[in-house]
Amino acid sequence: MTVQRPAERTHIHPGLTQIIAAQEDIFVRRQPRSRRLAADAGRHLAGGVTSSWQITAPQPVWLSHGRGSRVWDVDGNEYVDLHGGYGAALAGHAHPAVLRAVQGQATRGTHFAQPTPDAVAVAEELARRFGLPQWRFANSGTEATMDAVHLMRSITGRDLIIKVEGCYHGHHDSVQVSVAPGAGEAGPEDKPYSAASSTGIPRAMTDLTLIASFNDTGGVARLLGEHKNQVAGMIIEPVMMNAGIIKPEPGYLAELKALLHQHGALLTFDEVKTGLTVGPGGVTKDENVQPDLITLAKSLGGGIAVAAIGGTHAVMGHVASGGYEMVGTFNGNPLAMAATRAMLTEVATPEAYERIGKLRERAETGILRQIQQHGLRAHVVTAGAKGCVVFSPEPVCNYRGFLGVDDRFSHAHWLYQHNRGVFLPPWGKIEQWLISVQHEEADIDRLVENFAAFARAATNA
Ligand SMILES: Cc1ncc(COP(=O)(O)O)c(C=O)c1O
Repeated sequence: MTVQRPAERTHIHPGLTQIIAAQEDIFVRRQPRSRRLAADAGRHLAGGVTSSWQITAPQPVWLSHGRGSRVWDVDGNEYVDLHGGYGAALAGHAHPAVLRAVQGQATRGTHFAQPTPDAVAVAEELARRFGLPQWRFANSGTEATMDAVHLMRSITGRDLIIKVEGCYHGHHDSVQVSVAPGAGEAGPEDKPYSAASSTGIPRAMTDLTLIASFNDTGGVARLLGEHKNQVAGMIIEPVMMNAGIIKPEPGYLAELKALLHQHGALLTFDEVKTGLTVGPGGVTKDENVQPDLITLAKSLGGGIAVAAIGGTHAVMGHVASGGYEMVGTFNGNPLAMAATRAMLTEVATPEAYERIGKLRERAETGILRQIQQHGLRAHVVTAGAKGCVVFSPEPVCNYRGFLGVDDRFSHAHWLYQHNRGVFLPPWGKIEQWLISVQHEEADIDRLVENFAAFARAATNA
């Protein structure tokens, strides 16, 4: 994992608003069918989409199909897909190994609610990669982190948890707290408030989630001291990936673990996003810090919905003994297990990671060259297959730094890429690109060329 130094500040085009308006106009004109579908869909699909984050400006993009590193929208426009289904398409699209596994299992039955041998093979491989010996499965990242939080509470008999400001762990009550608080509701930086991130969550739940800043062990020590013997554990994205990409400072994760254990509390690494994408064994392996629990989802199933929860013998023994009932009709679904097995054994291979590493370097150096050439106030952060441009000259080390980044640049950049055939994830500065095992050098060159066009426009060079 590498962080590029920011370029020096120079001239910024004053007409960013006009650039956005012009690009949104092109965007809409290229996609008349998407526009009609978006308008009609609202009759029976709430908000005209299947998840609220699909409502993006200037209009949702309706897709027709995907193959390899590409996707096509319903208007027939082709894109290099670096959106990757919000980080779930490390395999790319219609990967032959995933297809074989899914087709093979589909002909033998898609659901039993009884274990199948693939589940053992998957658990064994996850244990080897992530160093935690015991595993269970679920269907989404939200379910996995919900089980992790329940488990920390169940084992310790304590109600409070600590969460990091700006981390996202899915949409259950305990973690929908201070995900993206505005400056007015976030409180002081050294003592962030617990701000509800969604309606429909009782204050009584929000109050059970204490908030600390990323890269601040002092804040966690303070919370543990103020709430002695009441904190069940802490959940954290060990590399923040719902605020661009923010990396842990050296020693931070190890210190957190020591602090929590000193106070009888547990540590969960939410690797739903980072899991297989930063490397074969996630941040856990890269940083050589083993938490008590790990949650995985997104890219794990090669595009099929699946999640995993891994734990130490001490933690998962509590599940095995019935101390906590970890349940779900579709847990360990045979289709998902077959796809995951293929993903782990045939897709996310050492050779694939090596290839992705070269493409990452190509993207990083190419974009950085453009940033420097045009004097753009920006820098590049990458972690394995993931990367993003942060439109700030300063490195960002926590959510407060991220809050200060002007989102208009990310949106303008996203539009520029989209209108020129590269599909980055929407939601501007929050998200990252994902390079899949099926991307080629030409795909990355297109990303860099489009970035150059954007840099020229944004700096009026
Ligand atoms: C780090 C992290 N954890 C959990 C989740 C929730 O996953 P899901 O959307 O599969 O419920 C997400 C989703 O973006 C995530 O980024």
